[in-house]
Amino acid sequence: MSTTIENKIALVTGANRGIGKAIVESFINHGAKKVYLAVRDVDSTKELEEKYEQKVVTLKADVSDTASINELAKNATDVDIVVNNAGIGTPKGTIDNGVEEDFNLQLQVNAFGLLRIANAFSSTLEAKKGTLVQLNSVASIKNFPQLSTYSASKAASYSLTQGLRAELGPKGVNILSVHPGPIDTDMASKAGFTDAAPTSEVSESIVAAIKSGEFHLFPDAMAKQFESAYQGFSENIVLADLSE
Ligand SMILES: NC(=O)c1ccc[n+]([C@@H]2O[C@H](COP(=O)([O-])OP(=O)(O)OC[C@H]3O[C@@H](n4cnc5c(N)ncnc54)[C@H](OP(=O)(O)O)[C@@H]3O)[C@@H](O)[C@H]2O)c1
Repeated sequence: MSTTIENKIALVTGANRGIGKAIVESFINHGAKKVYLAVRDVDSTKELEEKYEQKVVTLKADVSDTASINELAKNATDVDIVVNNAGIGTPKGTIDNGVEEDFNLQLQVNAFGLLRIANAFSSTLEAKKGTLVQLNSVASIKNFPQLSTYSASKAASYSLTQGLRAELGPKGVNILSVHPGPIDTDMASKAGFTDAAPTSEVSESIVAAIKSGEFHLFPDAMAKQFESAYQGFSENIVLADLSE
């Protein structure tokens, strides 16, 4: 399944900064009719509102809160493309102080957040034969020791993304699982990455992947190294129908 961005209505969680903001800009540059900016702080999108005027609509949304996401879905019943980009990442080892609380927090946003978004928007996306894009990571596939709890939360969201492909795919919903390496945002600099790829590399690749209808997207140079090593497992296990 594939679609273009042109004339589509999209929603992006965590749209105010980082990769989410770049996705908003790429979608509008590629002809989106309207983009909902789903953010915790409705004052954080002023710059995007001034730049894009009636093409953007800010909606309050916290992906760690089920009631907030159900309300969000009620206010955006016309969406064709939902991008669940919102995420948190804290540098923590597996053996570390406060690790239970930290992992719980990251699961709430990074994994349960996807569950909430998918459940709240599934009927709209089915009716529209739409697209759900999930920001996973190379850390969904490999645990990075200094980012252990983050990696585990992103492995959980990747597994759920595969579940969504199996359940919503046959109902006409296109699912895209995005796996960036280090990208130049607040999250990457907090984690100590200095040589990170620009956010536009992710956002422009998402536009192209929505068009081509692929399931996995490895957008930047480091991610592409993962892609080539992962290809056989992906084709023979993740994307294969093992029920035969
Ligand atoms: N940067 C990387 O190297 C990298 C690599 C692979 C994958 N990713 C993934 O890409 C996505 C975006 O990351 P980023 O680097 O752009 O991060 P970022 O610069 O830290 O921005 C995170 C965004 O998520 C929002 N957010 C956090 N918790 C939220 C919640 N409970 N409800 C709603 N919004 C929430 C933030 O909103 P506030 O402004 O309100 O905090 C912000 O808009 C994440 O899912 C991340 O895991 C990033």
